[in-house]
Amino acid sequence: MFQLNDNYLKLPGSYLFSTIGRKVNEYTKAHPDKRVIRLGIGDVTQPLAPVIIEALHKAVDEMGCAETFRGYAPDLGYDFLRNAIAENDYKKRGCNISADEIFVSDGAKCDSANIQEIFGLNNKIAVCDPVYPVYVDSNVMAGRTGVYDKETETWSDVIYMPCVVENNFAPMLPKKTPDLIYLCFPNNPTGAVVNKDQLQEWVDYANKVGAVILYDAAYEAYISEENVPHSIYECEGARTCAIELRSFSKNAGFTGVRLGFTVVPKDLKCGDVALHSLWARRHGTKYNGAPYIIQRAGEAVYSEEGREQLRKQVAYYMNNAKYILEGLKSAGYTVSGGINAPYIWLKAPGKMTSWEFFDYLLENANVVGTPGSGFGPSGETYFRLTAFGSYENTVEAVNRIKALQF
Ligand code: MLT
Repeated sequence: MFQLNDNYLKLPGSYLFSTIGRKVNEYTKAHPDKRVIRLGIGDVTQPLAPVIIEALHKAVDEMGCAETFRGYAPDLGYDFLRNAIAENDYKKRGCNISADEIFVSDGAKCDSANIQEIFGLNNKIAVCDPVYPVYVDSNVMAGRTGVYDKETETWSDVIYMPCVVENNFAPMLPKKTPDLIYLCFPNNPTGAVVNKDQLQEWVDYANKVGAVILYDAAYEAYISEENVPHSIYECEGARTCAIELRSFSKNAGFTGVRLGFTVVPKDLKCGDVALHSLWARRHGTKYNGAPYIIQRAGEAVYSEEGREQLRKQVAYYMNNAKYILEGLKSAGYTVSGGINAPYIWLKAPGKMTSWEFFDYLLENANVVGTPGSGFGPSGETYFRLTAFGSYENTVEAVNRIKALQF
């Protein structure tokens, strides 16, 4: 008789955004006359930029012609894209990352879930609290997190680093020593950032204790302030302790197109084994590469026109962020984020829990957000709104929230 991977049975509830999707579907089914505005999941709403559409069309035509047709992509990514990434995302920022240290994939979500596979099961992970649920859930599935405590909503073998108002939602170095440290800046869900000195402290710490930092920089395009690092490789010594995850979803609207990449520097080693070779082996065995058509679209992101069109797209969303931030502040809400990130993190009014506020907002304002407690216990009583809606919907949602009486 076959057996299950019992670790899956330890997962409490369903994936956060699936639960929200189900609740919203139930509500809309019961109230077909209500126009629900979704500012929950961080999914983009603006169409792909013209330069990307052009690149997609061209690549599709190439696939229809024997001379230019492509079959399997190289499993680590086409050179044209890896070179464009190395040049634009790293060399131009003074980071020493070469094209062959970049692994192209179909998105940062999968990479951030899969990367733990190359580490031993006894490694202790440290995560921010609140945190993007994929980091913890993927480690639960692997059997690395110990026992779940329903009361505290924590795992016995996970080191939680509370990100709360007192530390500006930036984690402190943990008291217990971790082996793998998940960091995400600009942060999902709080929208917080760390400056270069703060990130350098993490790099120095990881090098000192022999830990690896898994650095999720999916939202780097939203950084608007000076002295906020766009990449962990801006820090001295990051090549020996950090893996960076990047996405085309948020900077270029590829949530439905799927493209991302992971950087594993060749200097990052365990003894004399380079993690680069392990991740390459994993990619080679389990992955046939992101589609040629999509990688050509990714290349267009780095063209001069592409950069200009996407700068405007990011500015559009950040204008929404400003509207939410200022609108809710003027209505008396405690709000943060939204300056270097497309997420606004607010405190639920009165003594409401995150889920109570979720239900209240859905029913009374027909606005969907994400309950902070879904990201971890320190997210309780908080709530996340995304700036990825249309401007019109964002304005309407904020006005509806402002009209509520508590
Ligand atoms: C979120 O809403 O947190 C993100 O959209 C999730 C993701 O990027 O996978």
